[in-house]
Formats: sequence, structure tokens, C-alpha cells
Amino acid sequence: MDLLIKDKIDQLRTALHQHNYNYYVLNAPTISDKDFDDMMHELQDLEEQYPEYVDETSPTMRVGSDLSSEFKQVKHKYPMLSLANTYSEDDVSEFYERVKGLLGGENFEICCELKFDGTSISLTYEQGRLVQAVTRGDGEQGDDVTNNVKTIHAIPLKLTGTGYPDSFEMRGEVLMPWTVFEQLNKEREEREEPLFANPRNAASGTLKSQNSQLVASRKLDSYLYYVLGENLPHDGHYENLQEAARWGFKISKNMKKCRTLQEIFDYINYWDIERKNLPVATDGIVLKVNSRRQQLNLANTAKSPRWAIAYKFQAERALTRLNKVTYQVGRTGAITPVANLDPVQLSGTVVKRASLHNADIIEGLDLHIGDMVYVEKGGEIIPKITGVDKNSRTPELGEKVSFITQCPECGTELVRYEGEAAHYCPNQTACPPQIKGMIEHFISRKAMNIDGLGPETVDLFYRLGLIHDPADLYDLKAVQIKGLDRMGSKSAVNIVEGIAKSREIPFDRVIFALGIRFVGTTTAKILGKSFANIDQLAGASKEQLMSVEEVGEKIAQSIIDYFADEKNIRLVSRLRLAGLQFSRSESDTAQQTDKLKDQVIVISGVFKYHSRDEYKELIEKNGGKNTGSISAKTSFILAGENMGPAKYEKAKKLGIEIKSEDDFLELIS
Ligand code: IVH
Repeated sequence: MDLLIKDKIDQLRTALHQHNYNYYVLNAPTISDKDFDDMMHELQDLEEQYPEYVDETSPTMRVGSDLSSEFKQVKHKYPMLSLANTYSEDDVSEFYERVKGLLGGENFEICCELKFDGTSISLTYEQGRLVQAVTRGDGEQGDDVTNNVKTIHAIPLKLTGTGYPDSFEMRGEVLMPWTVFEQLNKEREEREEPLFANPRNAASGTLKSQNSQLVASRKLDSYLYYVLGENLPHDGHYENLQEAARWGFKISKNMKKCRTLQEIFDYINYWDIERKNLPVATDGIVLKVNSRRQQLNLANTAKSPRWAIAYKFQAERALTRLNKVTYQVGRTGAITPVANLDPVQLSGTVVKRASLHNADIIEGLDLHIGDMVYVEKGGEIIPKITGVDKNSRTPELGEKVSFITQCPECGTELVRYEGEAAHYCPNQTACPPQIKGMIEHFISRKAMNIDGLGPETVDLFYRLGLIHDPADLYDLKAVQIKGLDRMGSKSAVNIVEGIAKSREIPFDRVIFALGIRFVGTTTAKILGKSFANIDQLAGASKEQLMSVEEVGEKIAQSIIDYFADEKNIRLVSRLRLAGLQFSRSESDTAQQTDKLKDQVIVISGVFKYHSRDEYKELIEKNGGKNTGSISAKTSFILAGENMGPAKYEKAKKLGIEIKSEDDFLELIS
């Protein structure tokens, strides 16, 4: 009987590994997502029922865990060397000639590959199973990030095919695709969190996260470019990688073996242009002597191998004059210094302005007005100033750029919060761009969604003194705005009706619309569910706020600060008088009980009657709190059909009660 079960488990695992490979490595799925999920659930069920068959490389292990884990330091079996870098074609020729000379006239091939711009990883496979994943660290030893790496679908947990050595290492790059990077930054911007400068930083930051569930959600990708070990099938590096592709690794299809310098330069020139169409960031080309025997002959220097070199693409860069530095005040009061430049061509667009980021960067550049500065458009979104050409300075140096101390819009003394690089204007309620920004945020689609009103109209109304804050909108009359800036009476009526209609927008979106720092749409939604009305939210203590899911100290403090400000209280009360929704609607408040008051509940497994989200909602509606990880504070675990084995172990160790779905429903009925 058990043998049959084991067969079934093996069958499911093999099939799921294959489908995972088809989807993430080949980009060619052969079954629907639904069928995939069904198979996965079937496997999860079986693994739960038969824990004796739990396996670290099972496809079910890719979900990650929210249990924080410190990384173990691991020494690399073979040091992770870096490559000698060059930006010049002459150096490439020199490398080629040197190799030729050292090999004493032997024929040789150079394998040309893309240089992926992520963070490097070393994977150890034993008997075809991924046993360890380690970051580069200092080259000698790195962090054991195996649990995080397991969530990356492009990395095989178990190999397919035949012919792989019993034990070997695979090295490559962990990457965040452009689309994932852009989406992540968009979300961070919404939550007013600092943005990642480029996909490389985002990938390495993610890989070092202590929460592998978060890593799983970030959708990292990976290309492998180096097989390392004894008993490899071929002498050729290229040939070994082709073999590795058959074992299930994601290998770039854009490698090419070249024999002549001309072929190498053709490859470089082709990819310098074509790389812009790739889904991931690349920053150069790597040239490797293909034969491993020849590699061994050429050997390594202390830092890098003599058999390889990296040619880095010139970051697109231009030299131009700095005319002045202006300062922008954002919606949150953050001050951005902007370099105003002589217009210059840079990767297809004319650049006149570039970000100078913050005061420290300006100081580090020792910037003077009139300096010739380098502007770059790298992986970053906004062009930036990366250096000053000090040779072109004349004795009559322009004025040194020093960061302003007062807000350019309202004159208020700027502040710098601890741990932040930016300066802020603290005059949130009376600084014009902050007010306009606050109103623009208030009317935006995800907030009050007021049709017909946009930034220009807000600016116009503000300049004319018609509105000073969001509450003024509700006093506007069509006759007041008709005729302004060619506005017809129809548009005027539309705007006023749009404003009136926003009175129906539900409580959670009103919370979001207030523009409390760090309270994005998701947090606002949770707050709108957790508090019956604005008075409860405004009166909540830090502890109460922090007991709400997703609300940490930073958000809690920001909410407290918001309601501690008299002007905000006045705004809220005027908006309330205007008829906005400042309490949870009937349907949300229905069934509200205290049955789970002070209970901290972890949900785990697959359920029969309700989805996980529904259970989450039920817990909150009954006064309980849902958290992700088990700790001594957990009151009980609401366990469905196949609670994860790690959670089960932990619960048992801490002696925490496990409640079934039926027990739970009875408890709150
Ligand atoms: S080979 C001993 N191939 O570039 C050679 N590296 O400084 C090992 N990289 O740390 C590296 N794409 O993170 C190699 N196709 C490629 C690469 C590549 C990106 C990175 C890697 C390494 C750095 C070299």
C-alpha cells in the first residue's frame, strides 16, 4: 500500500518538476495554471498525510517560509573569483593576443556570453539534488541562502536527464526581470518606501531577505553560466553548459563560440544594441577560453582567471555644463535637488535635467556651478550626474553648490530625519506643492476617484484661492468655476457632480485619500476593516495599531503623528461634515463579535469550507488577529488539510493548540 503511495508521490513530483521547467525555463507551459495548482495540492495533501516521505527537493518546497532565519556562513569549495574588467576594445585584442601567446600556437575557441547584471550565486548539487546555495560574499565565503534560492523557479531542485557528476557546482546570476523591478518600484512608491536604484540592487536585496516568503513573491529569475567540478562530461565549457540545459538549468541561448577577433567584435557590437530587448539587465560581455584543459594551463591570478575577461558596455554617458541646481518639493515634502544642464543627447533623448539625489551626493561630487559634468543613463530610470570633469575647470571657478536650508516654496527650515538621506520641508499643511500634492492624491483614482479633476485643474483652483485643502472641494459651486480657463458649464457641472458622488466612496479609500505617510492602499484597506470608524482609528494607541496585520512601528507612529496634528483633526471633521464615509459600512460591520478578542491566530493548510482570505476576514471580524508565523504569542493554529511540516513541528514544540476548521467555525458561530 505504502509503496503505491510513494509511487504516486514520486510521479507527481516528477511531473511537477517538468511543468515548472516548461514554464519557467522554457517559457512554454503545456498545462493550465489550474491543473498545475490541482496537482500541487494533491502532492501537498499526500506529503501532509505521509510525513515520512517529506523531501527537501519536492516542488512543494518552493513556497518559502515566513520564519526568519539567520544565514550561515559557508566557505566556498572553489573560491568565487571575479573577472578582470575592461571598457576598451584594445584590451579585448590584448587579451586575445595574450591567450594566443600563452597557448603557444594551439588552436583555441573563445566562448562569448552576456554578462548578466544581478547577483552571483553558487549552487551545489549532489546526486542530482540541490543541497546548498551560497552567495559570493567575499569570494572565500558567503551566506547560505538555500531556502531563498529554492523559491526561484528557474533553479532546478532536482535534475533531469543523465550524465551529471555525483557532486558539482553550478554558478550563475540571480536576476530581477525588468518588468518585476518596475512593478516592485511602483508599489514601493505608492507606499512611500525608498525605491531600488536598479534591478541588481533589488535582486541582491531580495536574495538576502530573511523572509523566504517575501523572496518567493518577488519572482526572481536566474541564468547559470559556469559548471564547476570533476568528471564533467566535456572538455568544452560551452558543451558542458549545453549538457546542463538538458539537466534542467536555465542556460542563455545567446552564447557563441568565436575563433577570430573579428567574430568577437561582431558579437560585442550586436549585443550592445540588442541587449536592450532582453527581459533582464546585462552590463557587458564575458569572454572565456572554451577548453577547460586550456583554462587550467592559463590558470588564475590571485583575483581573477587569466582565461576570461569581462568587456563592460559603456554606460551611456555624456558630458555637459551644469547651469544651476533647483530644488523640487514633493507631495511628502521631500526635497529633490535637480541639475539644470546644457541640453545634451543621451541614448536617443535630449537630457536637460538630471537628479542629484541628496545633499551627500552633491557634497561627494564637490560640485560647482559651471562645471562640466558627466550624465549617465544606466539601469536607472532617471539620468544622474556621476562625476565632474575637473580638468576642464578654469581658475575662475563658479560658486560651490551647497544644499539649501529653507524650503524653496514656503521658506520653512528644512529637516533631515534620522537614517534618511533626504531633506524634508515639515510644513505639510501650508507648503503649496505639499497642499496641491495632497489634493491631487485625494482626488486620484485609487482614493476618491473624482472624475473631471486633474492636476492642472487643482493647480488652477488653488492659484485662484478657490481651494486650500481637500475639504474645500465639497463647497465648490458650478457657477464659481464655470468660465475659468475656458471651462464650459457642462464641465463645471460634471466636476461638481463628480465631487458629490465621491461621498459614497467607502471608508478604507477615504483613509487612503487622507494621505497619511506610509499608508498605501493595502494598509488603508486593512485599517478600514480593523477600525469601526475614524474616531477609533484616531484614538488608537501605538500597541493597538501595531496589533493590526501589516502595521509595523513606522506606520503606527505615522498614524499617531497624523492625528496628533490639530490641522489634520480639523480637516477630518470638515470632511465628515461634508458627508464622507468615516465609518465601516453595514456589510463590513455585520457579524462583528468579540469572540476572538486578544487571540493571535496562525492559518495553515488547505481548507474545505472557506478560502484562507475568508478565514482571515472571519478572524478579524471576530476581534482576533491573524499573523503569519508561529511564536510563543500564538493562541492557536487554524489548521486545514495539510498543514506545513515545519509549522507543525514548531507548534508541537511550543505546545500550541491546533484547531480544525470545524472546531473554529463552531467557536465563532
Ligand atoms: S563567469 C571565474 N559569466 O560577473 C569566472 N560571470 O566579475 C566566473 N557575471 O561575479 C564568472 N554574467 O556575477 C561569468 N556570463 C557570465 C556572467 C558573469 C555575469 C558576473 C558574475 C561575476 C562577475 C564577474
